[in-house]
Amino acid sequence: MTTTLIDDIGLLVTNDPAVGSLTAEVTDAAVVIEDGVIRWVGSASRAPAADERVDAAGRCVIPGFVDSHSHLMFAGDRADEFEARMTGQTYTAGGIRRTVAATRAASDDALLGNSQRLVAEMRSQGTTTVEIKSGYGLDVLDESRALRLAQKLTTETTYLGAHVVPSEFADDPAGYVDLVTGEMLAECAPHARWVDVFCDTGAFDVDQARAVLQAGQAAGLGARMHAGQLGFSGGVQLAVELGAASVDHCTFLSDEDIDALAGGSTVATLLPGVEFSTRQPYPDARRLIDAGVTVALACDCNPGSSFTSSMPFCIAVAVRDMKMSPAEALWAATAGGAEALWRDDVGVIREGARADLVLLDAPSYVHLAYRPGVPLVSRVF
Ligand code: NIG
Ligand code: FE
Repeated sequence: MTTTLIDDIGLLVTNDPAVGSLTAEVTDAAVVIEDGVIRWVGSASRAPAADERVDAAGRCVIPGFVDSHSHLMFAGDRADEFEARMTGQTYTAGGIRRTVAATRAASDDALLGNSQRLVAEMRSQGTTTVEIKSGYGLDVLDESRALRLAQKLTTETTYLGAHVVPSEFADDPAGYVDLVTGEMLAECAPHARWVDVFCDTGAFDVDQARAVLQAGQAAGLGARMHAGQLGFSGGVQLAVELGAASVDHCTFLSDEDIDALAGGSTVATLLPGVEFSTRQPYPDARRLIDAGVTVALACDCNPGSSFTSSMPFCIAVAVRDMKMSPAEALWAATAGGAEALWRDDVGVIREGARADLVLLDAPSYVHLAYRPGVPLVSRVF
């Protein structure tokens, strides 16, 4: 097996609690990788010999981004909705049904091709772990198809049959929840690691969300949730109560929600691309972090509310407009995403972890926010 030494790293972000707090940075560092695994991390002056050497030339190396929230299994385009929002229309989740129609009509090849293109786009911007949700099929065949295709791209697949109530069940939402927790779950669970529900205004209420997540958990899936995007739904406290890995959006948060998050183990995943693309106020990251809540950042890449695949973009927005420090934002986009997926082998640079590393064309990760929109990812390992 070939060993590779990444040498002369000016600044290495390890995120390893054994090394230091938060980003746990090491200067003048080196890393040895072998067969996709990190074998050695330390000071460049003590680096062991290796079969090949990559010269980082004093630049910064960070863990690959962990994008813990995406909706890549879709067809179609909703740029017209974005355009309308930029001239004053508000976002409702109503457009989801347009994507459902386009997705149902698309071939397997078209769906897979589109998602592969987006995964490649993510990777070129430093993302090495991605979660992918279903949620634009909303019937048994199309939801399970989306998950089977997503499994070709990631192990982090999420069953989101409870995205919205599809038009054909408009008069019978309870019947749809029965389908989601019954036959659809049985078909989807073998292809999913997670179950998710959109608990918000115009989607599912707390009782429906509880039924969906508990059924998923009983089928062996870990729980995650969309809540607090459009209003106060009670979903955040439910997510904590059910031991969900993560509750995502968290734009509308009551004091009770913050207390629940601070007292539980559920990560709050913030999705700045959504507020950017819907012109809503950003979530209050400072209030969460200051209360001791673990915060992650993700793209929520989807054709409606946030069509970005760029974690560097999300970091720049989180730093500029959500009052996160560059170190907090980078940690949230790497280690935070890993926590939101219950993973300890990614989002960290330490011996034994996956060798998912990004070499930046910059001396520091601060440049990710300091130079917004500039492609700074030089190489992805
Ligand atoms: O995470 N909130 C629900 N789902 C997506 C939006 C989906 C869409 O508009 O197509 C989200 O923002
Ligand atoms: Fe989402």
